[in-house]
Amino acid sequence: MIPLDGAKVNASWTPSGAPKHTWSNSLRSGAGRADRPGHRAGQPACFFRRTIRETDVRILLTEQQIQEGVHRLAEKVNDAYHDRPVTVLAVLTGSIVLLADLIRRLTMPLRVGVVQASSYRGKVTTPGPLTINPELMPDIRDRSVLLVDDIFDTGRTLAALAERLRQWEPTSLQSAVLLRKQGRQEVEYQPDFCAFTIPNVFVVGYGLDYDDQYRNLPYLAAVEESDL
Ligand code: IMP
Ligand code: MG
Repeated sequence: MIPLDGAKVNASWTPSGAPKHTWSNSLRSGAGRADRPGHRAGQPACFFRRTIRETDVRILLTEQQIQEGVHRLAEKVNDAYHDRPVTVLAVLTGSIVLLADLIRRLTMPLRVGVVQASSYRGKVTTPGPLTINPELMPDIRDRSVLLVDDIFDTGRTLAALAERLRQWEPTSLQSAVLLRKQGRQEVEYQPDFCAFTIPNVFVVGYGLDYDDQYRNLPYLAAVEESDL
């Protein structure tokens, strides 16, 4: 198993006194861009706050930081598989943005499939019952499978999925996630590849949602349930 060594994101990413900005239509307005009004030269853009529909959010990872993390993630996967063909199996729906960016950096022959699994429902930010729907899945028997998911939180989704997928007897089964939340894991299972370890906060953007919204944010924002 490849050691998990995702870059760690500091929990105190918003220094006190950080200027507060409210962008009425900020969703794709380029958070993290240094050319926005209010940006102070030399100050990382992730120290700024943005507004999503009148809600203040803290930017945990800028678009550029995410791209760098995905690049490192892809390098680790390429090193592990070399030229071995892989079936990349994306866990719907949160992983679709990562999937699109990741596969364009993978160099081995690959197929792409999806599997439906969800543990969150509607406006609830705590895990609900896990449902797995393998109907959309390609045949994985005798294939090397790389499961791709957005975030490893309690770990129950990936652990349960991995167990279920082993019934189809893949040659090998590994997993890659963009994020792993610190101190939340409830299972022994660990993802094989991870780009970032983040603090225990609820995050949206880059595929991750709250009530099926905000997946289109190009950056990762931390939100509080009371804000939403
Ligand atoms: P787990 O089973 O607790 O690891 O949860 C995994 C799934 O929960 C992820 O694939 C996400 O869809 C969702 N999830 C967990 N934490 C967050 C979050 O902070 N924001 C959005 N979705 C989350
Ligand atoms: Mg998910």
